[in-house]
Amino acid sequence: MADDRVISPETADAGEAGMEKSLRPQYLRQYIGQDKVKSELQVYITAAQKREESLDHVLLYGPPGLGKTTLAMVIANELQVNIRTTSGPAIERPGDLVAILNELQPGDVLFIDEIHRLPKIVEEMLYSAMEDFFVDIVIGQGPTAHPVHFPLPPFTLIGATTRAGLLSAPLRDRFGIVAHMAYYNEQDLTDIVERSAAIFDTTIVTEGAHEIARRSRGTPRVANRLLKRIRDFAQVADQSAIDLPIVEKALQLLQVDGRGLDYVDQKLLRAMIDYYNGGPVGLSTIAANVGEETDTIEEMYEPYLLQIGFLKRTPRGRVVTPQAYAHLGIPFEQKSKTN
Ligand SMILES: Nc1ncnc2c1ncn2[C@@H]1O[C@H](COP(=O)(O)OP(=O)(O)OP(=O)(O)O)[C@@H](O)[C@H]1O
Ligand SMILES: [Mg+2]
Repeated sequence: MADDRVISPETADAGEAGMEKSLRPQYLRQYIGQDKVKSELQVYITAAQKREESLDHVLLYGPPGLGKTTLAMVIANELQVNIRTTSGPAIERPGDLVAILNELQPGDVLFIDEIHRLPKIVEEMLYSAMEDFFVDIVIGQGPTAHPVHFPLPPFTLIGATTRAGLLSAPLRDRFGIVAHMAYYNEQDLTDIVERSAAIFDTTIVTEGAHEIARRSRGTPRVANRLLKRIRDFAQVADQSAIDLPIVEKALQLLQVDGRGLDYVDQKLLRAMIDYYNGGPVGLSTIAANVGEETDTIEEMYEPYLLQIGFLKRTPRGRVVTPQAYAHLGIPFEQKSKTN
């Protein structure tokens, strides 16, 4: 059910990954929003360059599609070093990690996406690599096995994760810079849509860009995807510029409502209202009701609903808020009668 959602914050396919590549800002000054993260990074990058040292290790955490991978690449560009990209699940054995580390030049960036999914044994090897730039490995087997102390060039590890809480404390503590990526505000998303339209060589009126921003769930990936779909609608309608009516019409056809909710969000909220009087209801109960895994609900559906205040977490479970009732056009009094 989740895969075909136009508002999903995850990358849909290889074609979309290609589009993202072309839209990626290269330098901090082109990177829109996340002002706090950007200004802090700017200081640390400049300081590291002045000292001619490698940048401290950076942990980027935040929901999918907010620009963590993009930011890692921007950091490498700013530092004028190479970036080697991999992911937690891709590094299966300590030997894989050693092979990657062995190829790094002094000052290079190693980007590990989904770093919370590193196998434990690899993670433990990373500790000394991060702290003192060496790894101890065992070469050979049986009686000829002997430990080898393997020095590494100074490098910067950039780790990305959607949930910082999933990281073990020893790993988290080894990052000198921890940056929390927040959902984007409407103005920043409007700027991102306008920038992307310019790269696509498409004209869009500001009200149109703003409307896309409002419905993009605070997420650049969603904003860019909606823009791309709407551009197709405009093309078919033989409209040279994207105006507000075509944005509204396209989003209606795509079933993305005024707050960026789609049928899955609506189904989830309505199920909680219809069967549980708006809650509190446990996550596993909700999951069973809409036929999804609890993890999927927790990682993909819920964060945005929590963020816009349509859902609340309480010790007894999730609760639908009066704002959500209002948005869905359901009277809120309903609740107190039967509860
Ligand atoms: N600050 C920004 N300014 C302009 N475009 C951005 C910005 N942040 C992200 N984007 C665009 O949004 C898309 C998604 O970004 P990116 O792939 O970096 O997200 P991510 O956080 O790594 O997601 P995931 O968690 O799924 O790996 C890219 O196309 C990128 O160009
Ligand atoms: Mg990414």
